Amino acid sequence: MADSRSHFEELFQSYRSRTEDALAHWLPKAAIQPSRLHEAMRYAVLDGGKRVRPGLVYTTGAALGAAPDTLDGPACAVELIHAYSLVHDDLPAMDDDDLRRGKPTCHRAYDEGTAVLVGDALQSLAFFVLAHHSSPAVDCARRLEMVETLAMAAGSRGMAGGQAIDLAAVGTSLNLAELENMHIHKTGALIRASIRLGALSAPTADKEHLDGLDHFAKCIGLAFQVRDDILDVESSTETLGKIRGSDLARNKPTYPSLLGISEAKRIARELHEEAMRSIRGLDERAAPLRYLSAYIVGRER
Ligand code: IPE
Ligand code: IPE
Ligand code: MG
Ligand code: MG
Ligand code: MG
Repeated sequence: MADSRSHFEELFQSYRSRTEDALAHWLPKAAIQPSRLHEAMRYAVLDGGKRVRPGLVYTTGAALGAAPDTLDGPACAVELIHAYSLVHDDLPAMDDDDLRRGKPTCHRAYDEGTAVLVGDALQSLAFFVLAHHSSPAVDCARRLEMVETLAMAAGSRGMAGGQAIDLAAVGTSLNLAELENMHIHKTGALIRASIRLGALSAPTADKEHLDGLDHFAKCIGLAFQVRDDILDVESSTETLGKIRGSDLARNKPTYPSLLGISEAKRIARELHEEAMRSIRGLDERAAPLRYLSAYIVGRER
């Protein structure tokens, strides 16, 4: 058991370093003009974060037989969208947070205008990488499908839409269905897209497996934000690298605020179990995906 855990940890460490290399390659060097913007983009993206979404791209792709270098572009693209979402999420007009990934938020380290532009530019770069990344294993039709997948997940019917629901919900109370809907959009959409991008990078998989993976993605996407809500109550600023208690301070509706901590944990566990059932049909190459799902609901940061 300890052995398999260290095997998975090593695997995810190798995915993290691939991701870091790809990001460092695609982000413009700080020496290139406008250098303050480029420096701030690198500040917001490099050397931080758990890299869960790239991990999902690599793990899904590998479970379906894709080679790692086919997955570098999609993994990098999804992390760029995620990093952009965090920079904007932290702005005073949104969650107004001062700490992210253990360092001052982008608008604190630079300024608000620069942080808005960092988000804009990271989003464009994500699509550039996805369109440009060349791999003979992925034909143009597949590549277009990937662009469509990421665009839908990031936009008003995905993450940005979820963030709009979140903004409108500050200081109000949502019922469970409304809360679930908000989380599915603001966080679930990009996690679901990560798994789809991994699947689209692989040689054709059978429909049953793809449907199972999509259901898996929906479950862990929601579970990810439920756990994030729990950590805002239970963890510490030092471990999280972001200020603990930020949701409470802003009067945000969350799973713990609506249901209490133990019920929120029960739901996260149930989502993990449902996720496991939905990929029962995949062979042992999917073991790292099962490990990631358990990690998502048990993580401490
Ligand atoms: C934080 O995401 C924002 C949410 C969508 C909950 P992560 O917990 O993945 O943040 P990093 O990338 O590890 O910093
Ligand atoms: C963020 O949700 C979802 C995003 C799209 C960025 P949160 O606002 O809860 O994320 P944290 O807790 O600031 O990382
Ligand atoms: Mg937020
Ligand atoms: Mg926030
Ligand atoms: Mg949060």
